[in-house]
Amino acid sequence: MANFFPRWTNWLPLKITICGIVLISAVCGATWYYDTPKYTRVGYQPVQPVPFPHDLHVTQLGMDCRYCHNAVELAAHSNVPDTQVCMNCHTQVQKENPKLQPVRDSWTTGQPVPWVQIHRTPDYVYYNHSAHVNRGISCYSCHGDVNHMPVVYHAKPHSMAWCLECHRAPENFLRPEDQITNLDWKPDDVEPAAFVAKYGEPAGVKDDWSQKKHLTQREIGLTLKQRWNIQPPTNCQGCHR
Ligand code: HEC
Ligand code: HEC
Ligand code: HEC
Ligand code: HEC
Ligand code: HEC
Repeated sequence: MANFFPRWTNWLPLKITICGIVLISAVCGATWYYDTPKYTRVGYQPVQPVPFPHDLHVTQLGMDCRYCHNAVELAAHSNVPDTQVCMNCHTQVQKENPKLQPVRDSWTTGQPVPWVQIHRTPDYVYYNHSAHVNRGISCYSCHGDVNHMPVVYHAKPHSMAWCLECHRAPENFLRPEDQITNLDWKPDDVEPAAFVAKYGEPAGVKDDWSQKKHLTQREIGLTLKQRWNIQPPTNCQGCHR
């Protein structure tokens, strides 16, 4: 019998099917990859039961982060404060403000205010606050300028690449240990002579940095990195235990 179609066309349906599968999985994969929270998390700002103004309490009233997040230096987890902490002041101040009604309800019922958690690392990632804030890393590096936010939002990606960007070059972020909760700190605030007297200079540096007018972030960071022997993990087991 005559063969109307060349032999290779026998494979055509199979080829089309395979191409189709490959294409569909690529599209699915890309959507999953780019659309999962890692890329869309930045800017996440859920509606909170009380629109708690960090800018007012921190910048205007001068409260330190640790007044409310008092576990941040001591534990892996940084806590959100209990109602008791708010009521230290709000039994007196703004007693009638309707925005504070959920806090007053919580106070009478004993049920916590249902704050919506914003930052969350997956369970397969090991993350520890005290290991960072006691080693020269400010809240600012990971949460942005919370002290100027009327309501907190997710300011940084918190993806693996983002963690590693700092772990590979912590000198770009390290600052003196007493400036961790001062989110407005700038390298220019450092007084070179006092800084060098306290922390020294990295080995191999010939110039006298104490004579400089200003130190750069890099100069400050390299000094502290060596002084404190900062070595963030970059191997998989460091973060996936
Ligand atoms: C008067 C108490 C108070 C002070 C002071 C305070 N916070 Fe908060 N913070 C809260 C409360 C309450 C929440 C939960 C509500 C919310 O997320 O808006 C919160 C939430 C947060 C969150 C988001 C938590 C999440 O769910 O992921 C971050 C980040 C944060 N605070 C950082 C800071 C930093 C940094 C400072 C210091 C500059 C600070 N806070 C000072 C009370 C406080
Ligand atoms: C150290 C005292 C103090 C603590 C602790 C405190 N606050 Fe306040 N808060 C104030 C003061 C003072 C004001 C009023 C400022 C003003 O009148 O401008 C205020 C105002 C507010 C307002 C009103 C803002 C507005 O726009 O009307 C809210 C909401 C609020 N606080 C929530 C909280 C919550 C929630 C907590 C606990 C996590 C808390 N506060 C803890 C002192 C405090
Ligand atoms: C090296 C980055 C880094 C630094 C520095 C850092 N945080 Fe966080 N923070 C995170 C990550 C990651 C999470 C999510 C943790 C989780 O999944 O439990 C988080 C979560 C939080 C939460 C939410 C906890 C909850 O369960 O709702 C608060 C509050 C918080 N941080 C406050 C602070 C404060 C205050 C500081 C500074 C004193 C600070 N953080 C410094 C990375 C950081
Ligand atoms: C801005 C800089 C910075 C960012 C961002 C950062 N880290 Fe770190 N990390 C450090 C420094 C500094 C250390 C301390 C290293 C030391 O003590 O020698 C550290 C230490 C660690 C350690 C070891 C602590 C221990 O207890 O063994 C782990 C695990 C870790 N980081 C996980 C993470 C994860 C997960 C993220 C992202 C969610 C992250 N880090 C983001 C700077 C950073
Ligand atoms: C500095 C901490 C850190 C180190 C080191 C690290 N990871 Fe991760 N890894 C993370 C964080 C944080 C996430 C979660 C990212 C997110 O939620 O977007 C993650 C997610 C992942 C995922 C999930 C993939 C995804 O995109 O959802 C895999 C797989 C992974 N890591 C493998 C590795 C391997 C392999 C290594 C070693 C080469 C490694 N990680 C080293 C912090 C780290």
